[in-house]
Amino acid sequence: MAELLSTKMHETLPEKYVRPETQRPLFSEVITGTKIPIIDLKSPVDQIISQIAHASQSYGFFQVVNHGIPDELLLKVMAIAIEFFRLPAEEKEKLYTDDPTKKVRLSTSFNVARETVHNWRDYLRMHCYPLEKFMPEWPSKPDLFKEIISTYCKEVRQLGMKLLGAISLSLGLEEDYIKEALGEQEQHMAVNFYPQCPEPELTYSLPAHTDPNALTILLQDPEVAGLHVLKDGKWIAVDPLPGALVINIGDQLQALSNGRYKSVWHRAVVNSSKERLSVASFLCPSNSALVSPAKKLTEITPPVYRDYTYDEYYKKFWSRNLDQEHCLELFKS
Ligand code: OGA
Ligand code: NI
Repeated sequence: MAELLSTKMHETLPEKYVRPETQRPLFSEVITGTKIPIIDLKSPVDQIISQIAHASQSYGFFQVVNHGIPDELLLKVMAIAIEFFRLPAEEKEKLYTDDPTKKVRLSTSFNVARETVHNWRDYLRMHCYPLEKFMPEWPSKPDLFKEIISTYCKEVRQLGMKLLGAISLSLGLEEDYIKEALGEQEQHMAVNFYPQCPEPELTYSLPAHTDPNALTILLQDPEVAGLHVLKDGKWIAVDPLPGALVINIGDQLQALSNGRYKSVWHRAVVNSSKERLSVASFLCPSNSALVSPAKKLTEITPPVYRDYTYDEYYKKFWSRNLDQEHCLELFKS
């Protein structure tokens, strides 16, 4: 069994986390101080839609404020997440597995059984929809974990559906187009814990990747930065904006939009002074959903991708390393 990082202190970076010299983060070249678009969801609808269109085409990322999820709940989610990773090692061991097919699992790095270099991350990954089905398998400690996380899951799903409606409209499609196309969507959550790292310039907490799902809603640590997004060949740091949520277009929306919207490369880095936490919520097509570029969009540009089921896509994604070529490249028509 691989070891969780969160169960002990690390004075030096173990060899198996060291990236080859050509693959390291190069902090001095990361752009700070510029921002990915911030969209106020209390703005007039037309404005929101045009901002989403712009952000999804040129960044693949945006942040939302006034999203309707109370600040207080976001703080509670962060607090219970950190409490979870501080549980005694024996408690966490009960949930540990390297098997990515398990629907509730505590693991480390990304795909420890397959990868050659590990990532400086522990994570709890859980299926969240329908809640009644999966909640019984969720961690029963800390005491308030299920209550707080399930409340957040419901809010996130609501926000996600609202955003998918706005994204549909921004593509010139019917408001419920994406919702219908993706079927009964699954919802997964990754609670990421990135401990302080003795040599952050040699490793990643998550190497460059794109998200395989449809839409990701990320709650970032309000105090510790670490997310980078690739824009025009340069890495941009997404500094935390307390109360905001970071939204990104996943591979499935890139396919559905026939390549108009971008599932952009992003990565997470660590630092030597502070641990960092993030909670990613993933909306995913149902396994049997047939994903294909929207017909209305292929009248303008021929289909870039072939039709496939999400089941096929997801299996392909987890059979690879995180930082290989864009998984969608393998589904071109
Ligand atoms: C992810 C992800 C970024 C972060 O979980 O897919 O990109 O900052 N997380 O934790
Ligand atoms: Ni991601």
